Amino acid sequence: MIRVALFGALGKMGREIAEVAAQSEEIEIVKVIDKNADYIGQNYSAVTGIGGYDMVLSDDTGNGLFADIDCAVEFSEHAATAKHVEAACAYGIPYVIGTTGFSDEELNVIYKTADNMPVFVSSNMSKGINVINILLEQMVKNFRGYDIEIWEMHHRDKRDAPSGTAMMLAETIRNVSTEDMNIVLGRKGVDSKRKYNEISVNSIRGGDIFGEHHIMFAGIGENIEIVHRATNRKVFALGALEAVKFIVDKHKGLYTFKDILKV
Ligand SMILES: NC(=O)c1ccc[n+]([C@@H]2O[C@H](COP(=O)([O-])OP(=O)(O)OC[C@H]3O[C@@H](n4cnc5c(N)ncnc54)[C@H](O)[C@@H]3O)[C@@H](O)[C@H]2O)c1
Repeated sequence: MIRVALFGALGKMGREIAEVAAQSEEIEIVKVIDKNADYIGQNYSAVTGIGGYDMVLSDDTGNGLFADIDCAVEFSEHAATAKHVEAACAYGIPYVIGTTGFSDEELNVIYKTADNMPVFVSSNMSKGINVINILLEQMVKNFRGYDIEIWEMHHRDKRDAPSGTAMMLAETIRNVSTEDMNIVLGRKGVDSKRKYNEISVNSIRGGDIFGEHHIMFAGIGENIEIVHRATNRKVFALGALEAVKFIVDKHKGLYTFKDILKV
């Protein structure tokens, strides 16, 4: 069994991962970590109602967070994640990061740890979005001169905007474009006509939407739209556990879903 420490264990994604891992024959969650003071020291199964976890929730301050585990998985909050990944570096623990909303500085910290340990980062753990991310490279090459608009929708509690996924898609497009493209967040004002070299990204928030991403290439006489809808959170949890299985025996380095998919 692959022994995993789960950071953000009380969150929406943490609970989903715990549910899915409880059914796994290859992955066992052996530590559950969160920062919610109301529940630290309590039994995880009792707090969450998820069966099979006869262990107490701990916070991230104790020693030994990274002892006796094979891999860490984190879906929590950006600053905390960067701090945890940096701490894990001394132990060379393979780390799967699903958290989004990192500053450039935090991302640099995380990327640097990949010099010493395997680090898997994906702002979207669904196979669908990651296949789309690869398809975009073909689309950009074939739809030169088309206007590219991205918009995303998420539940009302999502903290960061735009989503990490929307930014990943926009950056993929920018990186494969031969022109110098600017990623433009939002659009407003009396003088806001789109420029030809813009990749526009907009965010919509409401209700319980799990995550929806639209990418449109609009040309003269046609427009092409790719849509991805996550219909539940399980898809992200399954992807995160697939990432654990992939990364656990890898050497140091930075990995993404592209390393798992057939390109
Ligand atoms: N990569 C993906 O596929 C994917 C999918 C969904 C969400 N996300 C991202 O994952 C993150 C979590 O999402 P969520 O919907 O579960 O959020 P959430 O707010 O429901 O849960 C976050 C949890 O992290 C905990 N936390 C905060 N600081 C902590 C710390 N220092 N140590 C341990 N735990 C800490 C919080 O107490 C909370 O329980 C967000 O950044 C979100 O954007 C990524």
